[in-house]
Amino acid sequence: MIIGVLSIFPEMFDAVISSGIVARAKSSDLFDLIIINPRDYTEDNYRRIDDKTFGGGAGMVMKIEPLELALADLKQKMLQKGVEKPLVIYLSPQGKTIQQKVVNDFAALSGVILVCGRYEGVDERFIERNVDLELSIGDFVVSGGELPAMLLIDSMVRQLPGAMNSLESVVNDSFMNGLLDCPHYTVPRDYEGSVVPQELLSGNHKVIAEWRLQQSLWRTYQRRPELLADKQLTNQQSRLLNEMISRNKIKEK
Ligand SMILES: C[S@@+](CC[C@H](N)C(=O)[O-])C[C@H]1O[C@@H](n2cnc3c(N)ncnc32)[C@H](O)[C@@H]1O
Repeated sequence: MIIGVLSIFPEMFDAVISSGIVARAKSSDLFDLIIINPRDYTEDNYRRIDDKTFGGGAGMVMKIEPLELALADLKQKMLQKGVEKPLVIYLSPQGKTIQQKVVNDFAALSGVILVCGRYEGVDERFIERNVDLELSIGDFVVSGGELPAMLLIDSMVRQLPGAMNSLESVVNDSFMNGLLDCPHYTVPRDYEGSVVPQELLSGNHKVIAEWRLQQSLWRTYQRRPELLADKQLTNQQSRLLNEMISRNKIKEK
């Protein structure tokens, strides 16, 4: 997979590619990252990427010309690496909120381009002419698209085959199967009287798997009930969840 980025702060991306799973995936050539700075496509002495907003008011807007020139060059570079039609994503608080399913779908693409806005954002005509999809990291505003783009890069790279040591940990992550993940514990077994659940220490794989599934269902029911509304539970899942609901009703009495 080739990930292209348009950003006036390319150095920020060192943070995501220099450690952990993403760094390992990069050095194993599971993906390549090409970052282009639209400032390099300006023509004035000051390398101005932004200008005042038409109609007046505070704030500056990223200009269309350098962005389009930078995008064309980035697409050309990606084409040379075999990516014919990358999906162009503009990170924006006005976009659809990023969901795991979308991330999983992106990870199967040969190339994506992430456009990072700054200031008040980018000239609307750039979006109309070039962007396939606007995506948001949530209903709050950050100063630029770089952090949102880095979040997306990290989550996509995790899904690339070979990026994680264990496929199991990806498959059981929250949202992967429409549920939140179960709680996890490590040594010591007893920390100042706070103990690890017996089921996890039983050594019985069936008991452990059932306990984990039940905890996942219960957590989702308590914390994100809307996820369950979209999900068709199996007989086993319904039984495990109902068991937890009754158990907790009894505790409440
Ligand atoms: C200060 S914001 C501009 C916000 C814009 N004036 C608005 O209210 O919609 C600058 C840039 O940060 C990025 N950004 C800010 N919040 C974001 C979010 N929640 N999700 C994705 N990108 C975001 C976008 O690329 C945006 O162009």
